[in-house]
Amino acid sequence: MKTDEIREKYLSFYETKGHTRCESDVLVPTWDPSVLFTPAGMNPFKDHFLGKVKLDFTRATSSQKCLRTGDIDNVGRTSYHHTFFEMLGNFSVGEYFKEEAIGYAWEFITESLKLPKDRLWITVYLEDDEAFDMWRRIGLPEERISRWGEKENFWGPVGAEGPCGPCSELHIDLTPEGDTKGSLVNADSGQCIEIWNLVFIQYNANPDGTFVPLAARHVDTGMGFERVAAVMQSTNGFSDFSRPVSNYDTDVFSPIFAELEKLSGKKYAATLPGPGQTGQEKTDTAFRVIGDHIRTLSFSIADGIQPGNTDRNYVLRRILRRAVRYGRTLGFHEPFFFKL
Ligand code: GLY
Repeated sequence: MKTDEIREKYLSFYETKGHTRCESDVLVPTWDPSVLFTPAGMNPFKDHFLGKVKLDFTRATSSQKCLRTGDIDNVGRTSYHHTFFEMLGNFSVGEYFKEEAIGYAWEFITESLKLPKDRLWITVYLEDDEAFDMWRRIGLPEERISRWGEKENFWGPVGAEGPCGPCSELHIDLTPEGDTKGSLVNADSGQCIEIWNLVFIQYNANPDGTFVPLAARHVDTGMGFERVAAVMQSTNGFSDFSRPVSNYDTDVFSPIFAELEKLSGKKYAATLPGPGQTGQEKTDTAFRVIGDHIRTLSFSIADGIQPGNTDRNYVLRRILRRAVRYGRTLGFHEPFFFKL
């Protein structure tokens, strides 16, 4: 399934469940001074969750352009980290809560996308018996659901004000046999990745670390679009898990890599860096860095953010420099980035 079809499938699935399809917001978060770039699908709905602004609808779905730099040192070194990505999301503003959020997610992932159930592992927040029981009622055996603390399963703004709450995540085992029995969940392994985060928003976090219950409870989910595409496309529709699954082996990146191969005369071979990197590993890392960063730069500039000397513009300039620096590995000594 091509990425355009996956995106469309998601948005239209949630439309059939009464959600209003919303355009992606721009990457400049004019509505939220606490962040430099739009980091998640929920941000355009923040003021609605806080009850400050009213929407004409209570159910929404979107594919949001996101930019995050927290993992930038990993971008290029792994098969699944990015600075720019799309987040597929569904949102309930004061209407449905855990039961529907979990039910819809399971229906979409197992019936619409047909991800293999026996490779899916669920996490819930330590004391969230409600979410745990809902997954059980859906038919998940207890051993497939594990409980985690704040770091993994309580979503919210770090050190800042904003809506937050316990979350439940779906992880997929990507090993050839799919037999790791959940041991790689939350282990920073490219062989078992989180694909969807369901957040049950019920508090507002204060900058001093305290929480106040919100007047209403909301749902905010975020599915990693490039990750799901990778799982589907690298496995030939789940029939073959023998090759490593990589976000970079999808139709999101293949046109960029084809052009980069043409410009550099080097071939992308999808290797990941090991200790004492080989030449091919360095080449492949450079392809991934440049492939990720050209998207970040293109979408940011299209949304009105230019590389510059201050604030978000400076962040962008640093991303641009990082891409160009990795271009040296591919033998570029003249400007090449603009050609992509
Ligand atoms: N807001 C959900 C997420 O970023 O995972």
